[in-house]
Amino acid sequence: MQTHHLALNDPAFVYDPYPTLNRLRENLPVFYDEVWNKVFFLRYEDISNLLRDKRLGRSITHILSRDELGWPPPSPLTADFDQFQSDHMLDSEPPKHTRLKSLMMKAFTPARVEGLRGRIQQIVNDLLDRAEDRGRMDLLSDYAEPLPVAVIAELLGVPKEDRPLLRPWSARIVRLYELGYTDEQARDANQAVVEFSGYIKKLADERRGKPGDDLISALVEVEEQGEKLTPDELVANCILLLNAGHEATVNGTTAGFLALARNPEQMEQAREAAARNRPDFFKLGVEEMLRYDTPLPMFERWVLDDFDFKGIPLRRGQEVALMYASGNRDPGKFSNPDQLNLTRAENPHLTFGLGIHYCIGAPLARLELQISFQTLLKRLPNIQLATDRVEYSGGFVIRGHKAMPVAW
Ligand code: HEM
Repeated sequence: MQTHHLALNDPAFVYDPYPTLNRLRENLPVFYDEVWNKVFFLRYEDISNLLRDKRLGRSITHILSRDELGWPPPSPLTADFDQFQSDHMLDSEPPKHTRLKSLMMKAFTPARVEGLRGRIQQIVNDLLDRAEDRGRMDLLSDYAEPLPVAVIAELLGVPKEDRPLLRPWSARIVRLYELGYTDEQARDANQAVVEFSGYIKKLADERRGKPGDDLISALVEVEEQGEKLTPDELVANCILLLNAGHEATVNGTTAGFLALARNPEQMEQAREAAARNRPDFFKLGVEEMLRYDTPLPMFERWVLDDFDFKGIPLRRGQEVALMYASGNRDPGKFSNPDQLNLTRAENPHLTFGLGIHYCIGAPLARLELQISFQTLLKRLPNIQLATDRVEYSGGFVIRGHKAMPVAW
């Protein structure tokens, strides 16, 4: 297998990874990176096949011990974080994953998501009411961020006065999902898990005595085939909902806006559709923004059993990196993939994943983004990017912006 090093955290790559990804996908669609010790896959077809292959999993420690993997003993710095990881669905494998996901889906129903439509619209309206007369705002901190946090808080039933706690907890925790972090960040993320878990536990105990119509109450009640969520699993999955439920939605909003700002003709179409109240336009438009600039561009899997994939030997315990952002720009799957086309009808993008870990929050994220873009462009039709160079906040894995100044 050919080797290559991809400098994932190089600021130039984070700023615009697509020329590099396009070149690699064309010339070296599979390679082994010694520095990251992973096999990278860049083609749509390969990624989509691998995501549905049971010989790959998000975890490995359920079949191989740390000794067998040649890993050092677990760091005491992240003991609580590691426990949290092992209790939530994203890092579980069947049969545990199947149980957790089906229990969570019993509470996180389409009806519950649809029931949030009115509240999402109201939160969006309030945010724009606050900004409208100022003539400028930071799209990230004044709009993109508060919406998903308020929606998740609403969903979980977190009282209003506690909501400012949520975003900092989440930001501290997700730092550990980047490749390469310091001891200080590890300690801090672990502490955030402790604080956040304590908070959710307290909330769940209150709901046990006095259920409401929020998701935590539904989870406390949820029962399937006599099996319940354990208290630790309940807490871990609620924290997961917050982290997974807003980091990507925030990045999706700012990345989507940036794509519009850089494609004035598409922006014009979106403005017209907003003025004419055309939600159908935003249904397709949001899918295209999510494809064009993928908010979570890369996920990894472990090889659980030896096998050869198209002649490439994949061995138990090896890690693979699947470049969803590259698959989403693959000309083998999408026509004119480097063009933003908000009316693209065929759009089977990889942005929410595929296979058993397919995003549980996709319907909610879609609803939030559709309402958010349609209302933004209707209320502020002259909105423009107010900076020449947008800055990114960190590495490639959670590819978010530092800020996004806009004016109208
Ligand atoms: C634009 C926004 C979002 C994007 C791009 C996104 C993307 C993803 C992706 C790619 C995965 C699968 C990860 C993998 O393949 O390894 C995933 C899983 C997940 N997402 Fe999302 N997500 C978004 C919003 C949300 C929201 C709003 C929620 C919850 C309220 C959520 C909750 C979850 C959960 C719980 C999982 C784990 C599912 C499982 O392991 O079976 N996500 N998400």
